[in-house]
Amino acid sequence: TVAGSICPLPPTDLPSGLSRVGKTSLIMSLVSEEFPEEVPPRAEEITIPADVTPERVPTHIVDYSGNGCAIHMAYAILWHCLSCKQYKTCYILASSNDISLLPLILVGNKSDLVEYSSMETILPIMNQYTEIETCVECSAKNLKNISELFYYAQKAVLHPTGPLYCPEEKE
Ligand code: GTP
Ligand code: MG
Repeated sequence: TVAGSICPLPPTDLPSGLSRVGKTSLIMSLVSEEFPEEVPPRAEEITIPADVTPERVPTHIVDYSGNGCAIHMAYAILWHCLSCKQYKTCYILASSNDISLLPLILVGNKSDLVEYSSMETILPIMNQYTEIETCVECSAKNLKNISELFYYAQKAVLHPTGPLYCPEEKE
């Protein structure tokens, strides 16, 4: 059954330097369907009921402020949120911490501020780190890919591809 207890909090030694990337704004944009002009350091903890989520599972969202870069959902998801400008250098992030047991999605927020997609840069990184389930560019401001992002996060937890995919054995 997917309904279950909330997983322990993610490790606290998450990479630093990821404050102000828009974690709280993304949560608030999801919940209220509009970009918050005033944003508190942390969004209130919420549980999104099963019947309004695409995968039909209750989703508990815990915000982190400052050095944290995780959105913690029930069933342990780490959501690494970066701004799109940092997104290009996120291999540094991926290699600098030991979170490989959890599915991970990389989020490039603030896509409204960049002209070009970073996907070409990010795909080789994804292939290198199998724990990265997916990556997504989004904008809390334009509400672009917000619900998709939460859907990917649920999917990463419920149907992880990680253990089934090993780039070394490809081809
Ligand atoms: P900390 O809690 O301090 O770690 O920050 P955070 O990651 O929660 O970021 P927060 O949501 O507080 O947003 C930081 C700043 O970025 C605020 O000024 C937001 O208005 C702005 N911001 C957030 N998302 C977007 C976005 O998609 N586009 C743009 N242009 N600005 C954004
Ligand atoms: Mg915040």
